[in-house]
Amino acid sequence: MTDSAHYVIRGGVEGRERLRILARVMHPSSMSLLDRVDVCPGLACLDFGCGGGDATLEIARRVAPQGKAVGVDIDAVKLEMARNEAREQGVGNVEFRVSDIRQGSAAPEFDVAYSRFLLTHLSDPAGAVRALYAHLRPGGRIALEDIDFSGHFTYPESPAFRRYHELYCATVSTPTSDRGCRCCSSSAASWTLAPASRSRSGPRAR
Ligand SMILES: C[S@@+](CC[C@H](N)C(=O)[O-])C[C@H]1O[C@@H](n2cnc3c(N)ncnc32)[C@H](O)[C@@H]1O
Repeated sequence: MTDSAHYVIRGGVEGRERLRILARVMHPSSMSLLDRVDVCPGLACLDFGCGGGDATLEIARRVAPQGKAVGVDIDAVKLEMARNEAREQGVGNVEFRVSDIRQGSAAPEFDVAYSRFLLTHLSDPAGAVRALYAHLRPGGRIALEDIDFSGHFTYPESPAFRRYHELYCATVSTPTSDRGCRCCSSSAASWTLAPASRSRSGPRAR
């Protein structure tokens, strides 16, 4: 059973359309990151917090024909839309699962665990990175893209934009939200983490 009360942005069909815009804007930097972590044919890849599966489908194309991509999210509506889009686009090596990164068990079945814009919505992002790590096979890699909200500014200064920033931070800090206002202390960034072996106690950034 998943609980989406902590996720303050609207999901479902409207959420899916918003993510389409996000995917277009992020496409160059996301593709660059996937190149850097060498997402190549034959790999098994996880996309946690996959939303409508835009990145998941891109990953599936890269790892085809033998590799696979698994997209995971708490939003069953977006996942059903993602399955339909995969069918329409003829992408067969992709699967979408409903799961909450804060719960559930992980099997070490992936070579790459990727996540875009999920950690910023969680009160325990480090716990989420540990959960991603638990999905990796020995030698697996983690690739993350997320938000540093303090990097948002306008020049010249815009009171309306500043107010939007304040309201967003206040909203994600409400008691129903799973997170504090890390967004205010923390622009988009990407990281790769490459655990060299499973004998290590946790992931290592590089
Ligand atoms: C900003 S969207 C990004 C979607 C996708 N990664 C992309 O870049 O298009 C964040 C996604 O994280 C999902 N999400 C939020 N909390 C989650 C959780 N605890 N476990 C799994 N997914 C979660 C939301 O349903 C949403 O689809």
